Amino acid sequence: MLSRHNATTLMVEYGQGLPWTRHCHAVADAAQAVGELLTDQRAIDVDSLWSVALLHDIGRYVTHDPILHGVEGYKLLMDLCHEEAAFVCASHIGFGLLAAEAAQYGLPAQDFVPRTRLERIVPLVDFLLEGEQPTTLESRFTSLRKRNTGNDSFLEMLHRAQGEATSFLAELDAEIGCSVVEVVATSVRDA
Ligand SMILES: [Fe+2]
Repeated sequence: MLSRHNATTLMVEYGQGLPWTRHCHAVADAAQAVGELLTDQRAIDVDSLWSVALLHDIGRYVTHDPILHGVEGYKLLMDLCHEEAAFVCASHIGFGLLAAEAAQYGLPAQDFVPRTRLERIVPLVDFLLEGEQPTTLESRFTSLRKRNTGNDSFLEMLHRAQGEATSFLAELDAEIGCSVVEVVATSVRDA
């Protein structure tokens, strides 16, 4: 079981205090803020959510490639026996990779598609933060498209990711009865 302490220790060791680690902390705090609004039978373990969210981008210690950083994070965390966090590293890429895509990028040939609330909140919140700044899905996807002009396979993945993120956002908004975009923005303001 990955504790907050373990996750923080790994982030210190592999993140070395580099600027990209601030985004990881912002995603973890925002994911927790969203997770705390899920109650009753929908409730999730916010300590686990925070911990895996913190590590979702840990593969950036190797590369900032928009896809391969997820693969590197998966490999590292599988080696360390943190399967759930490893899965989130891989499955936050494009809001999920199908088996053929996974194999193409050096992952095991299986679907890495986020299905649980915990697995889906991480990429959603990730898409609602531009670095550490709150944003909207529209702005974030526009910015990602600009940054990856010419990378056709990634642009195609983004198109699918935007659809997934948009429908999950609407589902969560309805469930918690307030705007997840606002919850994320408030968590950043209060940090
Ligand atoms: Fe990422």
